[in-house]
Amino acid sequence: MSVKKISKTQPELFEFTQDNLKKVRKEIDKYPKDRKASAVIALLYLVQNQNDNWIPLVAIKYVANLLNMPYIKVFEVATFYSMFNLTPVGKYFVQVCTTTPCMIRGANKLTTICKNLISKNQNELSENKLCSWMEVECLGACVNAPMMQINQDYFEDLDENKTKEIFETILNDQFPKPGSAKNRKNNAPENGKTTLLEVKNA
Ligand code: FES
Repeated sequence: MSVKKISKTQPELFEFTQDNLKKVRKEIDKYPKDRKASAVIALLYLVQNQNDNWIPLVAIKYVANLLNMPYIKVFEVATFYSMFNLTPVGKYFVQVCTTTPCMIRGANKLTTICKNLISKNQNELSENKLCSWMEVECLGACVNAPMMQINQDYFEDLDENKTKEIFETILNDQFPKPGSAKNRKNNAPENGKTTLLEVKNA
């Protein structure tokens, strides 16, 4: 298991915006009063969304105070889940799945392109500071392997050319069109349907 890196440069303050405080109240209200801690993942997710896609230590303390939890408990949650970043990431944050189905379908070619076009090492910003990348475990779109996630969107059925094209777009500060590079709808078979072809009226 990889050890999560924590940024050496930390801001001194963190507070939710008024809009996010409303969302915080909504999340906390979903649980019984003595079970506020159940909202911890939702609150950390809000922190990350508000703070350019990463969670500083001061925000972990802030969330611990809001939920009356020991700081170490919130820290444990933030360090356990790979979707929480504890170091700054690029405006375009690329996560390449390298679990077996994606690996068999060429995920290593994608990571090589990451190294060549974005940054030599994972969790480092590109030269123009816009992009960063990391390897992650299965993102649940194995049937459209190989795939990667950029910010909140999935890019599937990738090959080397498509991956380079996507990276050139984000390095130019544009967001590429997400979805299947083969225009598959969701996870439909590549060569069209082979079963359930007849539509029967009830
Ligand atoms: S193995 Fe890559 S999405 Fe599941």
